[in-house]
Amino acid sequence: VFNLDRYLKDRAALIETALANTVVTHEGPAAPLYESMRYSLLSGGKRLRPILALASCEAVGGRTGDAVGLACAIEMIHTYSMIHDDLPCMDDDDLRRGRPTNHKVYGEAIATLAGDGLLTDAFKVLARSANGSPNSRAEIVLQTVAELSDAAGSAGMVEGQAIDLLGEGKPMDLARLEYLHSKKTGALFMISVRGGARMGGASGGQIENLSAYARAFGLAFQVVDDLFDVESSTEQMGKRTQKDQARGKATYPGLLGVERSHQLTRELVERAHRALAGFGDAAQPLRHLAAYVVERKL
Ligand code: IPE
Ligand code: IPE
Ligand code: MG
Ligand code: MG
Ligand code: MG
Repeated sequence: VFNLDRYLKDRAALIETALANTVVTHEGPAAPLYESMRYSLLSGGKRLRPILALASCEAVGGRTGDAVGLACAIEMIHTYSMIHDDLPCMDDDDLRRGRPTNHKVYGEAIATLAGDGLLTDAFKVLARSANGSPNSRAEIVLQTVAELSDAAGSAGMVEGQAIDLLGEGKPMDLARLEYLHSKKTGALFMISVRGGARMGGASGGQIENLSAYARAFGLAFQVVDDLFDVESSTEQMGKRTQKDQARGKATYPGLLGVERSHQLTRELVERAHRALAGFGDAAQPLRHLAAYVVERKL
């Protein structure tokens, strides 16, 4: 039987090692920059996006190792997005993963640069994962570089963050909120799944089905994140809660209420499972991950 707990621990450990080797400290005048990058990158975290990338690669019969470069690149981008998200000019948070936020330790300038460094270096990590491989793989990596920049950039996560901040204190309807979440959070989950599958040699049809899975997964993830802000404690989450409403953020519980938001997350898990109907046992990790995303306590 599949043991999700063990799977998550194994995969997180693999990612942890790869990340620690990817961003290394250098002596010299910029040493605090590298320390600051590692402070946030290696501070734990669920590693959900990289684990999804590896699981999607496996779901189509690929080798885990083929998606590790992509997985690290995505976690670096996720980490940069959280460092910047926590800055005083954005969500102004002082706690992340149970520790002081990056700018509280290193100051705003170095925190901003640590984010810039992680974002930019992520593309180096992904591009170099094509080193020494045959042209067919280089082609796949190139396509994934383009798709990753769409997912992370001004047509993806950055667009979502802009809508999130510009929308503070303003009413938002459900269609716009779903759009906001699909960009702010959904886009990185989408590239994790699609990119991971592509690294594993997925067919066009497989990528299409996995995209439906990722869409449901990503929305479920952010609805749960919104619910945590309302229903969980700062101690449990390792980040401040009860802040979204005070800041006038558009959220699912804010718009639909807590009960209907929980109901929606259950429906989204079912939708994610249906999208995997044509996949066999190799997709078991993806199925369990979808259930986990709404049952998680952190
Ligand atoms: C939190 O993401 C930030 C959002 C996009 C809502 P995670 O809940 O995946 O954070 P970590 O990486 O596990 O700390
Ligand atoms: C963060 O969303 C999304 C990104 C960093 C792209 P939130 O602002 O809701 O994340 P938390 O709640 O601070 O982790
Ligand atoms: Mg935010
Ligand atoms: Mg935030
Ligand atoms: Mg949140």
